[in-house]
Amino acid sequence: MDFNDYIRDIQDFPQQGIVFKDITPLLQDKETLKKASEALFLLVGEHRIDKVVGMESRGFFFGPMLATKLNAGFVPVRKSGKLPAAKISQSYNLEYGTDILEIHEDSIQKGENVLIHDDVLATGGTAKAVCQLIERLGGNIIACNFLIELDFLSGRNNLNGYEVQSLLHY
Ligand code: PRP
Ligand code: MG
Repeated sequence: MDFNDYIRDIQDFPQQGIVFKDITPLLQDKETLKKASEALFLLVGEHRIDKVVGMESRGFFFGPMLATKLNAGFVPVRKSGKLPAAKISQSYNLEYGTDILEIHEDSIQKGENVLIHDDVLATGGTAKAVCQLIERLGGNIIACNFLIELDFLSGRNNLNGYEVQSLLHY
């Protein structure tokens, strides 16, 4: 079984010139889904994690599964206007466009160990903004964990100083 067989390229989505990595075939297949979540969990290693932070939307696929395996809580980072309680915001540049991400103020306690998870590391703009949000709340970022890293966009350069763990590289 090769994870790559379950990830398909969609040309010109969501915009002309972008090749979208569609992981829905991987999610649909019960054995591949199980193996991918186990492999992401193994990437984390021996670290003690208090909270897994996953970002809307595609960080929600594996984030809570990882949290369960790590015996940690799950914290959603959401796009502007979606979180109901007191929150902080961070604007960021995306591979295509700009946006605002938000996190609940009470979601992370000072000194808690945090693992960030998302499906794809592209330019790193999203993950960097999430790091900023977590650090503003006093969280201790242990690593940034991704299903896919697009090496040619050098997103890890935006995450200097943090451990970057990626299951698949393109
Ligand atoms: C995609 C992807 C990552 C981000 C990576 O999310 O799921 O979160 O882009 O890009 P970056 O490294 O250049 O910041 P997107 O914002 O398209 O939204 P979605 O997860 O809701 O589909
Ligand atoms: Mg996303």
